[in-house]
Amino acid sequence: MKSALELDTLKMRLNDADLQGLDLHQRIQRALRALILEGALGPGVKLPATRVLAGSLGVARDTVENAYVQLQRDGFVLRRKGSGSYVPETIGSELRGAAHRRQRLRAPGRSEAQPGAGLSRRGRAILDSGGVSDQTVIKAFATGLPETRTFPTGVWERLQRQVLKDYRGQVLLHGDAQGAEPLRREIATYLNLERGAKVSPEQILVLSSTRQALFLCAQLLVDAGKPILMENPGYFGAKKAFESAEARVVPIGVDSSGILTDLLWADRSGASCVYVTPSHQYPTGATLPLARRLDLINWAARNGKWILEDDYDSEFHYDGLPTACVQGLDKHQRTLYIGTFGKTLYPGLRMGYMALPHGLVHAFTRARSILDGHTPQILQLTLARFMGDGHYNAHVRAMRKLYAARREAMLAAIDRYLGEIVTPLRPRGGMQIACILKPGWSEAKTIRQAAGAAVQLPGLSRLYQGEHKESGWLLGYASLTEHEIETATLHLARALVK
Ligand SMILES: Cc1ncc(COP(=O)(O)O)c(C=O)c1O
Repeated sequence: MKSALELDTLKMRLNDADLQGLDLHQRIQRALRALILEGALGPGVKLPATRVLAGSLGVARDTVENAYVQLQRDGFVLRRKGSGSYVPETIGSELRGAAHRRQRLRAPGRSEAQPGAGLSRRGRAILDSGGVSDQTVIKAFATGLPETRTFPTGVWERLQRQVLKDYRGQVLLHGDAQGAEPLRREIATYLNLERGAKVSPEQILVLSSTRQALFLCAQLLVDAGKPILMENPGYFGAKKAFESAEARVVPIGVDSSGILTDLLWADRSGASCVYVTPSHQYPTGATLPLARRLDLINWAARNGKWILEDDYDSEFHYDGLPTACVQGLDKHQRTLYIGTFGKTLYPGLRMGYMALPHGLVHAFTRARSILDGHTPQILQLTLARFMGDGHYNAHVRAMRKLYAARREAMLAAIDRYLGEIVTPLRPRGGMQIACILKPGWSEAKTIRQAAGAAVQLPGLSRLYQGEHKESGWLLGYASLTEHEIETATLHLARALVK
């Protein structure tokens, strides 16, 4: 059976993470080539005329023409004047032939290299986690992505030049695995003043990201096969980091105020740590009230547990003052505070940090020294100046104002165009809004329909463990202008109610 090109399938392919960053004609060419190689476009199938495909994809005809030319050059498409473009009839046998040749070239007795073959149990756990794919282009409605287009690169560049001049060859050598002292000092001051923390520079460990912090926590605090508690629903990156260390993730429910601390007291799994996002629970956006923060600390102190506090976007709190972090309330040194510059500055920076209990600093620093040594010195010292000269606080203030307006624009657009489809959970801060689908709407179907219109909707249900799952999406708005929010929401609504 010759199957025709399914436009929805092609559109989904065009959004594949490994095609992002390529020119549009290259993405179309690669997506079509993949469909041919997989047999979804079999031998003899006629491709749509360039004009027709260009119209369906909403791109210029030349773009499709360029893709077809390349496919023809590589032998994936035959083009006949007057009759159109076809997948060659011979392609099936060529593909089978290539597979056969690969088979013959293999050493006798060796099996085909399967993903996962030859890996350790831990290696397989890492492979099975699926990894974390980051958004590499600005698009609706990417979650956790800040505004990068207005970042003061001029100031950054000037400070970096100063650092190179002032520290000369020193920054070209290896640095302290715990992090450059000037930056640790700035981070400690910032946390104490702005986040209500109680830390000294000796407790700060400079890292590349929150994810690196979570990976280290899993490696250092949880044995393989042992449990770790985490909020349900919760951040998929944390779950993957824990599962990669072969930890058993035990879900703890949340309500509209955040993690249910009563469930922690009732837990009998024997877990030594709990992962929480108290400022803005991921994904519901709930802020944990003071009474529960104190209960959490009390539980950890009484039972000798660790609290992993992921404070990933607490700077962006719009209704009233942000709540002080759990670390600052904890007199018992049970909290490992985790922060990132990926949201407050820009994600490509790859800088984050931990504020650790005194007793854990040494072990975590050693682990970092084994992992990758340290964060680049030039970046650390440039950031220290950026913070010391007041640019950091000014940038965060400006972004807070911008995102507060964007949250309103996003809520207004949801109300205007998607009011019949979802109920948004109004967050008090953060960079995304959880939207619960109304009865009669399917998460899988809406995600598929949106993908057909080139909108990738992050589903909510995958963030839940166990039987009970909410259906909906998580809409990121921080990286989009108010105009972009408006047009993208309208575009999405049209794709859903065709
Ligand atoms: C809850 C939470 N923690 C951490 C991160 C990731 O931070 P990083 O890029 O520094 O690993 C994200 C990203 O969206 C997040 O949502």
